[in-house]
Amino acid sequence: MADHVDNPLRRPLPDGIVPEVEVARTEDRWLTVVLSMLGVMMAIIVVSGALHALHPPSNVETIDATTLHLGGEFAESNLGTAAEPDGSVTVRMIAQQYSFVPDCARIPLDTPVKFRITSPDVIHGFLLPGTNVNTMVVPGYVAEVRTTFSRPGVYDMPCNEFCSSGHHGMWARVTAVPSEQFPHLSPVERTSCAKQ
Ligand code: CUA
Repeated sequence: MADHVDNPLRRPLPDGIVPEVEVARTEDRWLTVVLSMLGVMMAIIVVSGALHALHPPSNVETIDATTLHLGGEFAESNLGTAAEPDGSVTVRMIAQQYSFVPDCARIPLDTPVKFRITSPDVIHGFLLPGTNVNTMVVPGYVAEVRTTFSRPGVYDMPCNEFCSSGHHGMWARVTAVPSEQFPHLSPVERTSCAKQ
């Protein structure tokens, strides 16, 4: 019976007035609940971000959008898939109204792939569904994303930033081929998906 009397929740109160000490205790309890929910949600974001390698998609690297075609890294002859000395590959593309140049790239499976993309006109998007590749392509900046393809096949890449009237038709394609097959592809085959 003693705890029946001591429990402030059960103590009869005059006219529904809750004692201040009980209000404070209830608020403390809610604060604890809310703070632990916040902690759990932050932990989920941080852990899943780390496990799935989610990160701000681009590096801050600027480029003169008005002279892309005149030379340098994004001159026409440098576009497409290039093999690096360390065995990885780099894919350079230009996203422009309303196409990717080149609009297709072949890349080797199970190999680190770095995409470097820039735009000469407006903001475009670069998205590889089913992968963690998703970035905006902003004029004046080089968007860079890295990934590795473990499933062979064709990956369709829609432009995912509205870039005016032809946006819906702006698609590119990445074809992942077995890594032993890749070195035998000619430079043209690496940057074209046309059937040979
Ligand atoms: Cu380019 Cu939408």
